[in-house]
Amino acid sequence: MTETLDELLDILIAPHATLRAKARPVGPADDDVVRALLPRMFTTMYKAPGIGLAAPQVGHSLRVAVVDLMPDDKPVPIAMINPEIIRQSTDLATREEGCLSLPGQYADVTRPAVIRVRYHTPSGERAELDADGLLGACIQHEIDHLNGVLFVDHISILKRNMLMRRLAKDQKAKRQ
Ligand code: NI
Repeated sequence: MTETLDELLDILIAPHATLRAKARPVGPADDDVVRALLPRMFTTMYKAPGIGLAAPQVGHSLRVAVVDLMPDDKPVPIAMINPEIIRQSTDLATREEGCLSLPGQYADVTRPAVIRVRYHTPSGERAELDADGLLGACIQHEIDHLNGVLFVDHISILKRNMLMRRLAKDQKAKRQ
């Protein structure tokens, strides 16, 4: 293997079948893959730049996601293995979302305002985190990716079709 830990990964752009697949849970046999993948996912996310990245977006259909809101421009990396939302508020919050797999496209998305997420850390410990605001939305967005769901699935069909057409047009223009 000649891959280095800081090598950038290619981010899949919608529509891509891997982005629509339900990712499988990480098991003990995946340890080496996940250990190699995580640093590269962070590097790829920071470089993009983005605040969240899920493994299916870089072609690995595994339940792994990384998040970093970089509060005060300082890294606060969160790596989540097999994350699941175990509580969510009935209160909703709406904020504009984008996605590295739908570059240049943004829409207002409404989600539960507060969530509790349970996951395993890269060292195998179980962790729980209560999140609201941008972090709450970001974690929900990344867990959606693990279920083959994109933020555009939360908006009207009309808006979604418009956005996907615009994305396809942008991507075609980029290739020319
Ligand atoms: Ni995304």
